[in-house]
Amino acid sequence: MGKLSPSILAADFNRLGEQIYAVEKAGADYLHIDVMDGRFVPSISFGMPLIKSIRKETSMFFDVHLMVEEPIRYIKDFADCGADLITVHYEACADLDATLEAIRESGIKRGITIKPGTPVNVLEKYIDKVDLVLVMSVEPGFGGQKFIEKTYERLGKVRKMAQKSENPPEIEVDGGVTAENIEKILEAGADVIVAGSAVFKGDAGQNVKRLLGLCKKH
Ligand code: DX5
Ligand code: ZN
Repeated sequence: MGKLSPSILAADFNRLGEQIYAVEKAGADYLHIDVMDGRFVPSISFGMPLIKSIRKETSMFFDVHLMVEEPIRYIKDFADCGADLITVHYEACADLDATLEAIRESGIKRGITIKPGTPVNVLEKYIDKVDLVLVMSVEPGFGGQKFIEKTYERLGKVRKMAQKSENPPEIEVDGGVTAENIEKILEAGADVIVAGSAVFKGDAGQNVKRLLGLCKKH
C-alpha cells in the first residue's frame, strides 16, 4: 500500500498546528517538510525553529527534504530538531558519501534525491546506502507546479534499480501529484507520495482520506 506524505509548504502557516493535527488524524503516514535556502533553489521557506516547534505537537514521521547547498553543514542541526529522515540533493553535495554518512551518524534515516533533469543512473552508486530515493516530478523550489510526465519512465528505471538492491529503499515522488494521477504514479513504482496543494487546498483531513483511499489499492 502506498504511503502519503503531505507537504506543509502548501499549508496555511497561520493554522499550521491545526492542519498537521488534521492530516495526522486522517491517517497520513509521513509529514513532508521542505527546507529551501534561496541558493540551491530561488525561494526561502523555513528552517530549524519551525521544525522544533511542530515536533512538540506531533509524533508523525518527519520526512525532511533539504533543498539546500552543501546540506552537510546542517545535518546534525536538523536531526537534533526532530527529523526522522533527511533527504539531500545529489546536485547540492560536493561529497555525497560524507553527507550520507553524517546522516547515518545522526541516527536517522537517509534519503537522496535528483532533480528532473539529472540522469537516474547517478543513483546506482548510492542505492544500497539509502533508506529512500526521492524522484522529483517538478523542478524543486515551488509548490503547485504541473507534474512532469517523463517521471513515469524514470520511476520505472529507479524501481528496477531498487529491486536489484539487497536493501531496497522506498521510492518517493514529489511535485504535482493530484487525485487524478496518483494511481498511475503508484503503478509506475512509487511507494511514498508527497502532496502539497492536493492536501492543503480545501479540507486537509478530507483530502488525505481521499488520497489514502486511492493509495490503498496499490
Ligand atoms: C517542491 C517541493 C514539494 C512541493 C510539492 O520544491 O519539494 O514538496 O511542496 O507541492 P505540490 O504537491 O503542490 O506540487
Ligand atoms: Zn519536497
